[in-house]
Amino acid sequence: MQDRRVIIDTDPGIDDALALILAFNSPELKVEAITTVSGNVPLEDATRNALQILEVLDLPEPPPVACGAAWPIVREPLAARHVHGEDGLGDIAVLTNAGGGPRYPRPTLSPVGTSAVELILSLLSESPGEISIIALGPLTNIALALESNPAAFSQVQEVIVMGGAVNGIGNVTETAEFNFYADPDAASRVIRSGTPIAVIGLDVTTRTLLTPAALEASTRDRRDRVAEFITDVSSKYFEVSLQRRGLSGCPLHDPLAVGVAIDRSFVTLESFRADVETEGHLTAGMLVADRRKRAAQPAGPTIRAAVDVQSERFINFFLSRALP
Ligand code: RIB
Ligand code: CA
Repeated sequence: MQDRRVIIDTDPGIDDALALILAFNSPELKVEAITTVSGNVPLEDATRNALQILEVLDLPEPPPVACGAAWPIVREPLAARHVHGEDGLGDIAVLTNAGGGPRYPRPTLSPVGTSAVELILSLLSESPGEISIIALGPLTNIALALESNPAAFSQVQEVIVMGGAVNGIGNVTETAEFNFYADPDAASRVIRSGTPIAVIGLDVTTRTLLTPAALEASTRDRRDRVAEFITDVSSKYFEVSLQRRGLSGCPLHDPLAVGVAIDRSFVTLESFRADVETEGHLTAGMLVADRRKRAAQPAGPTIRAAVDVQSERFINFFLSRALP
């Protein structure tokens, strides 16, 4: 029942890893490609991590993985190793197995030779209107594809973006969410492009907290590789969420964006005229959504953005799919 074809653009990243597991465990999605981007960790680490996740999943036919942008369009690269660990997957690189060898050896899979932009544009051109993009990292690849060949890019069915926050409350600064803050110029170009966009921001993702107890209950009687991997990557995420935010669980930012691609009813979407601040000393990376109530929608490109979420239903859905 694979009725939704998607490209997943990602910067793995612990929650990216959880999102990819959800995507590949959901028959409603056909993942045509994974494209990687510098974000939580540099591009080389993000690409290695994407391949590592595919190897853990042990798919019969893994999709192509194409390397994308190593740098934001304008700004210097940022990283979030303090959240995602030195390796980007919760420092699983240091874990060993019973024999003392690496529990997660370097992946044997390799990325394809074409770039992320080339692969995105060729897939969209070959299947006009049939493929959506789920963007889980900074929007650099998406903006570069859009600007490299607008006609081909306009064949995208929809871009579902994990990023921003309609309420303007950030997680990197007071006003900016990480993916938009890491490359605000790319985010602005995509948000203003008129492309069909659904923004899944911190307003809703921070309400989908996976708790250690819920994860433990879903993995308690399992000895499989995926359950072990999810437990291993999540432990640092739980630790950081508690230490930095005082949260009793870790937010399922990227998994919710994948969830919306599967079942839109997990969130409530509203239309807004919007842009992303690229210059502000205090507000760079902020998603500025026009929330003023007016009789008619003002002129200018609009986005759909999530303003509410069925948190418990989504968390239960995530666990049932990631750990069936
Ligand atoms: O702000 C959360 C987002 O930034 C998530 O996509 C996380 O993986 C990081 O990329
Ligand atoms: Ca991400």
